[in-house]
Amino acid sequence: MMKCFSLALLVSLSLIKDSAAAEGDWCYEIQGHQTLGCGPRFWGEHYPTCAKNHQSPINVLTKKAVFDKALKPFHFKGYNITGRHLNITNNGHSAQVDLPTGIEISGGGLSETYIAAQFHFHWGSDEFYGSEHTVDGEKYPMELHIVHKRKTSTGGFGDLAVLGFFYEETAKNNTEYNSLIESLGHISTKDGYKNFSATLDKLIPINELKVYYRYNGSLTTPPCNETVIWTLFNTTIKLSKLQLQAFHNSLNFTEKQRMVENFRPVQKRSDRIVYTSSSQVILSSFQSLLICFIVSFLTIMS
Ligand SMILES: *[C@@H]1O[C@H](CO)[C@@H](O)[C@H](O)[C@H]1NC(C)=O
Ligand SMILES: *[C@@H]1O[C@H](CO)[C@@H](O)[C@H](O)[C@H]1NC(C)=O
Ligand SMILES: *[C@@H]1O[C@H](CO)[C@@H](O)[C@H](O)[C@H]1NC(C)=O
Ligand SMILES: *[C@@H]1O[C@H](CO)[C@@H](O)[C@H](O)[C@H]1NC(C)=O
Ligand SMILES: *[C@@H]1O[C@H](CO)[C@@H](O)[C@H](O)[C@H]1NC(C)=O
Ligand SMILES: *[C@@H]1O[C@H](CO)[C@@H](O)[C@H](O)[C@H]1NC(C)=O
Ligand SMILES: *[C@@H]1O[C@H](CO)[C@@H](O)[C@H](O)[C@H]1NC(C)=O
Ligand SMILES: *[C@@H]1O[C@H](CO)[C@@H](O)[C@H](O)[C@H]1NC(C)=O
Repeated sequence: MMKCFSLALLVSLSLIKDSAAAEGDWCYEIQGHQTLGCGPRFWGEHYPTCAKNHQSPINVLTKKAVFDKALKPFHFKGYNITGRHLNITNNGHSAQVDLPTGIEISGGGLSETYIAAQFHFHWGSDEFYGSEHTVDGEKYPMELHIVHKRKTSTGGFGDLAVLGFFYEETAKNNTEYNSLIESLGHISTKDGYKNFSATLDKLIPINELKVYYRYNGSLTTPPCNETVIWTLFNTTIKLSKLQLQAFHNSLNFTEKQRMVENFRPVQKRSDRIVYTSSSQVILSSFQSLLICFIVSFLTIMS
């Protein structure tokens, strides 16, 4: 009798575990208490790559970033086509916009042209910051990922180039985001979608993208493929508090839960180097030396 009971318990426990964390059933930390074992720390059980050591996101230490002169500015193609009708979807984990063909990037230290596939966001809640990457330990309220694919996939490293942007809160609404933010109210349930219009190069600070960080990493969601060339831009995108709150308050993970804090915690950097396109540190000390000279010169002259 006892034996039979323990057997039943064992079977039902393994059933619970299976149904909770079956493939495709991953979740974020904030959802983890509702669905046992599906949060980020369990991703590796069903998606072994998530437990490897070149994962994303990471914390970028700006002082340790190594200048690489090959990290030239990007060339953007098709980012400037105006008034495009785009389709935004609630995919159960984020708000995602699948992009039409003809949008490409090159330069930026990439060895070839990459084609834009989609963009999506990671955000927090009123209580908590929401970026995935952090810079010198600082979290930003939201992060944008524009995912680009290599023309011919090899299944290996370098198949994807993701451009990451941090958001910062500002006093005024960023009106370029009006249509996108208005559309969020129509995609509260999973698989909901809505048509909106935007010009991609107005959603990002296209003319201030010279300074960025570069490292080798992974998708930040299962199956966590370690195939991503990451670019994180130093210039942030500005949105007002109300606009950021629209992300916190519009989408749902499920009928019972708002979609908030949809970010993966930072992963170990391991043996990886983060490179930077900016020789800023050297330049700025040189600049301050120059300014010092000029000031002394003027003081002597007067
Ligand atoms: C977009 O940029 C390309 C190349 O810089 C330019 O030829 C084209 O006129 C631009 N289109 C618009 C709508 O500004
Ligand atoms: C928008 O995206 C959703 C989800 O991917 C898809 O089901 C729908 O057909 C798309 N609508 C349009 C007009 O492309
Ligand atoms: C998107 O909406 C606009 C009007 O807002 C409409 O003209 C257009 O046909 C729609 N596109 C699709 C693919 O549904
Ligand atoms: C990324 O990995 C590739 C292939 O191993 C290597 O050639 C490249 O230098 C690495 N890039 C960075 C930024 O670490
Ligand atoms: C990730 O890797 C899996 C298995 O190797 C593959 O089927 C899938 O297409 C890859 N996904 C992406 C986005 O590269
Ligand atoms: C931009 O660079 C400055 C100087 O290195 C750094 O203090 C700041 O944290 C960076 N911000 C982002 C978003 O990378
Ligand atoms: C700013 O944006 C928010 C969110 O979309 C909106 O509710 C509000 O009315 C806007 N305010 C102004 C002054 O346009
Ligand atoms: C979204 O979740 C909230 C609970 O946080 C619930 O009140 C609301 O009805 C849900 N909305 C939808 C459309 O499922």
